[in-house]
Amino acid sequence: MSKRKRVPVSDDAEHPERREILMMQEPTSTQPAPVVPVASAPPPLGFGRVFADTMLLGRYKEGKGWQELSCVPRHELSLDPAAAVLHYGQALFEGLKAFYGADGKVRVFRLDAHLARMHGGTERLAMPGLDIAKMREGVLDLLSRTKGAIPRGKGEAMYLRPLVIADEGFLGVRPAKEYIFLVLLSPVGDYYEGGMRPLKIWVEREHVRAAPGGLGAVKTAANYAASLAAAHRAKEHGFDQVLWLDAVERRYLEEVGTMNLFLRIGDEVITPPLDGGTILGGITRQSSLTLLREWGVPVSERRISIEEVAAAGKAGTLKEVFGTGTAAVVAPVGELVWGKERIHVGAESTISDRLRAEITGVQYGTIEDKHGWVTLV
Ligand code: COI
Repeated sequence: MSKRKRVPVSDDAEHPERREILMMQEPTSTQPAPVVPVASAPPPLGFGRVFADTMLLGRYKEGKGWQELSCVPRHELSLDPAAAVLHYGQALFEGLKAFYGADGKVRVFRLDAHLARMHGGTERLAMPGLDIAKMREGVLDLLSRTKGAIPRGKGEAMYLRPLVIADEGFLGVRPAKEYIFLVLLSPVGDYYEGGMRPLKIWVEREHVRAAPGGLGAVKTAANYAASLAAAHRAKEHGFDQVLWLDAVERRYLEEVGTMNLFLRIGDEVITPPLDGGTILGGITRQSSLTLLREWGVPVSERRISIEEVAAAGKAGTLKEVFGTGTAAVVAPVGELVWGKERIHVGAESTISDRLRAEITGVQYGTIEDKHGWVTLV
């Protein structure tokens, strides 16, 4: 274990008062660290900067399987410098949220779907499958111990970051035989700085996020590493994120930033299909498709080219563009720039507003959960 001082929240220079609140808590060696009362911290909470002081931890060894999970004080990991994850990138993660409702109940959104997706990803990364029942129980135990740390402001939630990494110290290239599973907790607010506002998006033509036969459909660290340079360059030019095109023809829309993409052209709502294996099957995407179909909105999962989008922009039929994801929920896109062309996106938000209202209503318990999407803690 490292001798460095453990700080239970990222060094938050902007909000020293929040750090103070968090550091007032004294963890003991035998009990999980106490709950972090971030609810009283000043806004904005932002995304991924603040951490609760308890995490779930478990280990896997070939021949023994997944061992018992335990809630432990959040601490630094000690890794062999030869750990496979550091060299060959065997890392799989998830992102889901728990919400503090107006009725005082805590709801996790689509826990089973997230665990199933993570389990599905293990095969592609040659990792052992998850013990889903054990991990589900562990996540609920973790949340029941940390309920008080869930922020209660509008749009705030506890973000859960499950992670599986290969920690066997071995430099031969083959699937590792030892793994760590952990779940970090991070109280969060808005993903994008400035809250809910139309995003400026650069259509990326040089880099690709994922290719057919690659890793695009699984939530693995490599996909995010592949995306960073283009996203950074876009940011330097005043954009919020990039829109990814397919790797083969560089024409068909795939994802927007870290989100799935939806467009409304005329009355048709379109989202790129998952069958090419290059797009992550988002849980918010799936929930949105279910709702749209129930509402009788014409919706297609079909390939759509950037030329078709530009033509719709010119014709004035590109009514809405938005992204869906756990972190941002439903985020409107206000501007698409493709090379020298600025594609006109309509200012309507009928569909994205309705989806956001419905999904967040179920998450916070103000709308009935007709689909069994919520697990009470
Ligand atoms: C999500 O929105 O589902 C994410 O996981 C985004 C995250 C990579 C920040």
